[in-house]
Formats: sequence, C-alpha cells, structure tokens
Amino acid sequence: MLNVALLGFGNVGRALAELLMQKQDALRAEFKIVVRVVGISTGRHGQAIDEAGISLRTALDAVRYGATIEGLHRGNEIKNQTEFLRDVPADLVFESVPTNPHDGQPALDYTRFLLGRGVHVVSANKGPVVHAYRELTALAADHGVGYFFESSVMDGAPIFSVAREGLPAATITKVSGIFNSTTNYILTRMEEEGLTFDQAVHEAQKIGIAETDPALDVDGWDASIKTAILANVLMGASLKPSDVDREGIRDITPEDIRQAAAAGQRIKLLCEAVRAEDGTVSASVQPSRVALSDPLAGVSGTSSVVDFYTDVLPRLTIVENDPGPVTTAYGMLADMVNIVRKRYPLTGDEEKSLDEG
Ligand SMILES: NC(=O)c1ccc[n+]([C@@H]2O[C@H](COP(=O)([O-])OP(=O)(O)OC[C@H]3O[C@@H](n4cnc5c(N)ncnc54)[C@H](OP(=O)(O)O)[C@@H]3O)[C@@H](O)[C@H]2O)c1
Repeated sequence: MLNVALLGFGNVGRALAELLMQKQDALRAEFKIVVRVVGISTGRHGQAIDEAGISLRTALDAVRYGATIEGLHRGNEIKNQTEFLRDVPADLVFESVPTNPHDGQPALDYTRFLLGRGVHVVSANKGPVVHAYRELTALAADHGVGYFFESSVMDGAPIFSVAREGLPAATITKVSGIFNSTTNYILTRMEEEGLTFDQAVHEAQKIGIAETDPALDVDGWDASIKTAILANVLMGASLKPSDVDREGIRDITPEDIRQAAAAGQRIKLLCEAVRAEDGTVSASVQPSRVALSDPLAGVSGTSSVVDFYTDVLPRLTIVENDPGPVTTAYGMLADMVNIVRKRYPLTGDEEKSLDEG
C-alpha cells in the first residue's frame, strides 16, 4: 500500500486523481502498487486528511460544484498548510501548486519540509526545480527518498527519465528544442493564417492557452526557466533563468514569417543549452529560423520537442504532441512508479561495485 497526498488539486491535481483511478488495476498488476490517497490540500478549497483513505470521486465532485473538501477530513483539525504538511501520513506527495517563477515559493519550502520528513515528492512545478534542484535532490538523498519532477518540462513527456535511464554514461553536449507551447501556437497561427502577433495572442487567449498577461510566455521567461532546468539537471550547470540569453517573440511580424517561408524556413522560439570546449554551459532562448526539412519545423501548435545531442548518439529527438493536464498527470504517475522502483539517487550511492548491483 502506497499512501499518497495531493498538494494542489487544480487542473493537474484533478487530472492526476482521474488517472490514479483509471490506472489502479494496471498499477497493481504490473508494479504491485496499491495507491491510497490520505490527504488533499488546496488553496481556497480547504484541506482533508484521512488515514483510512479519501474517495477521489467525492473530492472531485466537491471541487467541481465549488464546495470545499473539508467535509472529507477525519481527525484533529488542520488550521493551516504547515499543519497539513506536518500531519499528513503520506509516503509520497504529489505537488502541483501554482508556479512562482521568481523564487519557487511557497512550493519550495513545502518540498524542503516534506523531503526533510522523509516523504518522497513528485512535482509538476518548475519553480522549486529551477531555484533549488541540487539542494532538493541532495536533501532527498540524505533522507532516503526521491524527488522527481518529470512534468515540470514538456508536461508528461519522458525527458529526465530518458536521460537518467536511457543515456547511461553519455555526455550531453547540447539540449535544444521548443519548450513553450503558447509561443509555438502563436507563431503557428501567424504563419498559417497570416495573423499579426496581437491577433494571434488574442486567439490564444480565447481558447485559454495564453494568460490575460501573456508576458511570461511571449517574452521568453517560461522557456528560459525550462532551458535553465534542462541545463542544470542534464548538463551539470548552475543557471538561473536570468542567466539565459533571452529574446521573446513580440517583435516578430507577418513579414518576418513570409520572408522565412520564402527561404524555405520557419520561425520558432528556439531554446538551447550548449556545453563549450572548456566545459561551461551557456543557454539561450531566441526566435530562430529553422529549415523546413528540420524535425523542429514540423512541431506546430501547442506541441513541444527536445533534441539531445550527445557524444554517442548524435541527435535524439522527442516530440510531444498536443499536451494537456492529462499528459502532465501521466508524468507524475510515471515518477511515482519510478520512485517505487527506487530509481532515485541515495547518499552513499556514489560508487557502486558489481556485487552491490
Ligand atoms: N496545466 C498544465 O498542463 C501544466 C503542465 C505542466 C506543469 N504544470 C504545473 O503544474 C502546477 C499546477 O498547474 P494547474 O494547471 O493544475 O494549476 P491550477 O489549476 O491553478 O491549480 C493549482 C492548485 O493549487 C492549489 N493551491 C494554490 N495555492 C496553494 C497552496 N499554497 N497550498 C496548496 N495548494 C495550493 C489551488 O487551490 P485552489 O484552486 O483551491 O486555490 C489549486 O488546487 C503549476 O506549477 C504548473 O506550472 C501545469
């Protein structure tokens, strides 16, 4: 029995709740994992702890009808988030609270606290990863637990697990790709329908892809955060989002797009982290012309793509088509399985002999 809690019960948390119900037979049959949800915490919809297990269907219905989940709570009163984090009897917490790009809070402190308590954490949140990946991974190792965050970049597409499991002893020399769905959608609409930047942003807002204030996306900040995460996690860098050489897509005109098309190219917001000869890693996010024959050019709309360049595999490309909360939830579920399979580093793991396995 794996006792879990959901910290955040919005689009992603609720999609995860549905997926945990949908996949319960597969989890039991393939991995002998039986999940029991013993806590759910939200911002405005209350908190609930029940060590005997909370009905996800009842919690989903409560939130759908705008109610709180407090009626599902059993035991001593929980007055605040600190008490929830202290008291929830979970082995693993799924964290999906809103991203704070500036300092990763409050999710960063929640994660520190949980790992320090010896609780595994699976997160979809870029904030804590970009600001404290190394600290949190070391803290997790010291406490014998896992800290995974597959869904923080490219939703649920396996990026970190491919690097961890599928590229042993490979040196990653460059990571590049299209990491921001909103700008890719805007550029696609500009190209396919001749829309101006403002018209395309408006279209993206109408279908809920762009925020009312789209600055985080269109000025390249979201892409810079994701690029810094990949550089730090996969290439050993220590970059902050502000270290990424960043240019957004506000100044792209329909004429720029027509000129690129006439030259057999397409404009994409290209993200790159590159290792130089001296070992240093630098990163950039810039609108760039990509040849139509390049796999990146075919990635349109809200889809994303990452290219790994390594010393052994010249170019490995992973494309994620049309992501959404369900794909993000899947990345979290996959992290949970990989934690149960103990695919996380532990202190003392530094050197392994064949005898130890
Ligand atoms: N949406 C996606 O497809 C996607 C993809 C990749 C990554 N992510 C990341 O996943 C996270 C969640 O995204 P989302 O779309 O699910 O957001 P969302 O719909 O806004 O949900 C956020 C949830 O967190 C709760 N919350 C807010 N402050 C909290 C706090 N201090 N403590 C505990 N819970 C708190 C909210 O509760 P109330 O509603 O009651 O206030 C809500 O349940 C974000 O970090 C996002 O960047 C999302």
